Amino acid sequence: MGRWPRLSRIVGMRRLLLLGSTGSIGTQALDIVQRSDDLELVGLSAQRSWQSLVAQAQAHGVGRIALADPEAGAMAAAAWPEGEVLVGAEGLVRLVVESDADLVLNALVGAAGLGPTVTALGEGIDLALANKESLVVGGELVTQLAEATGAQIIPVDSEHSAIHQLVCGEQAGSVERLVLTASGGPFRGYTKEDLEQVTIEQALTHPTWEMGAKITIDSATLMNKGLELIEAHHFFGTPYERIDVVVHPQSIVHALVNLCDGSTLAHLGYPDMRVPIAYALHYPERVALPVKTLDLAQVGALTFEPVDLETLPCLRLAREAAVAGGSAPCVLNAANEVAVHAFLEGRLRFYEIPIVIESTLDRIGSETIHSFDTLYEADRSAREAASEMVQSGLLGR
Ligand SMILES: NC(=O)c1ccc[n+]([C@@H]2O[C@H](COP(=O)([O-])OP(=O)(O)OC[C@H]3O[C@@H](n4cnc5c(N)ncnc54)[C@H](OP(=O)(O)O)[C@@H]3O)[C@@H](O)[C@H]2O)c1
Repeated sequence: MGRWPRLSRIVGMRRLLLLGSTGSIGTQALDIVQRSDDLELVGLSAQRSWQSLVAQAQAHGVGRIALADPEAGAMAAAAWPEGEVLVGAEGLVRLVVESDADLVLNALVGAAGLGPTVTALGEGIDLALANKESLVVGGELVTQLAEATGAQIIPVDSEHSAIHQLVCGEQAGSVERLVLTASGGPFRGYTKEDLEQVTIEQALTHPTWEMGAKITIDSATLMNKGLELIEAHHFFGTPYERIDVVVHPQSIVHALVNLCDGSTLAHLGYPDMRVPIAYALHYPERVALPVKTLDLAQVGALTFEPVDLETLPCLRLAREAAVAGGSAPCVLNAANEVAVHAFLEGRLRFYEIPIVIESTLDRIGSETIHSFDTLYEADRSAREAASEMVQSGLLGR
């Protein structure tokens, strides 16, 4: 299916399916779609925000939506009889398989995004991937699937979009190292003692990016950079020892690429996710966007510093799990999701998040991945172990 360009592609229109449309990436993607003459929206999905989803469908003339939550799906179907409402995990699969899309934007949050990633790639449909967890959990299998069906995966994460743009003119073998930049989050410069006092509100206040709750907490713990390290490894096939992270509080430089001749390429721009989203939705074309042109004299200084792995250990945990390989990144991700969820509900302290993750990794370990079933089983065991730890309430107190 992925071998022949669809007719819509040949005539310039791209049929886009937008998964997770009610979220931070999803709503910004809708802004891009509205400005584009080349994108035709063929479906939308959410977990349970049915009112927003129906309103989006009506505003964008979309006839078919999917809601993961059955109750929300029933409400949407009752309120919107003229539309088609698909429900549950199966509904999401049907939406992907039956929409005849040229491109799926996966903007779900968490490991729940793996299913739609696999379905889209299995159907040979190109994938604009915001859901980094898909690659963290199932990187090898996901990239093998894309190769087998000929579907492309185009990054949406700003750092990976930056690298994608930087390396596309380079010959294989000329790239020495990739450097991901990190803002450092709201707790840059904090001590371990300071972290014992931080609140949910403080952790949800990101200094440079406005994002969904889960990724904002991941940015505060630096787990987001750990997930991005694994994502970069799978996207670009670069060994972990050749991917670095540097703290850059202004978030103007999104990534750097060190080349074999001593040159370093950098991608710069004001932090605005519409730029990488538009790049992914239109690739290989570029479209004009109403964003400010970078004015370095106005920015003044760009500063860089090493990551404090001691105070915020999540990046170290992610790198260790990545190097261990097998199901370890899947376990890391599941434990992180459980811990972040518990933190956002006030059941876990901020500094306990890495403790839950490290203890879960120690308890579950890593297994060789034979199939997606190995991953689903590792995900389930890790969630169970992490939830038990959170409930026991004995973590580092
Ligand atoms: N936000 C950013 O600036 C940014 C930047 C780079 C990368 N990313 C990545 O992009 C992804 C999305 O992030 P976000 O910040 O946009 O998240 P978000 O604001 O929380 O939105 C998540 C979307 O996914 C839906 N969803 C959540 N859980 C689901 C489930 N179990 N099944 C089906 N749908 C589900 C939500 O529906 P409801 O509205 O019904 O909950 C919502 O539409 C994440 O992987 C994140 O790491 C985000």
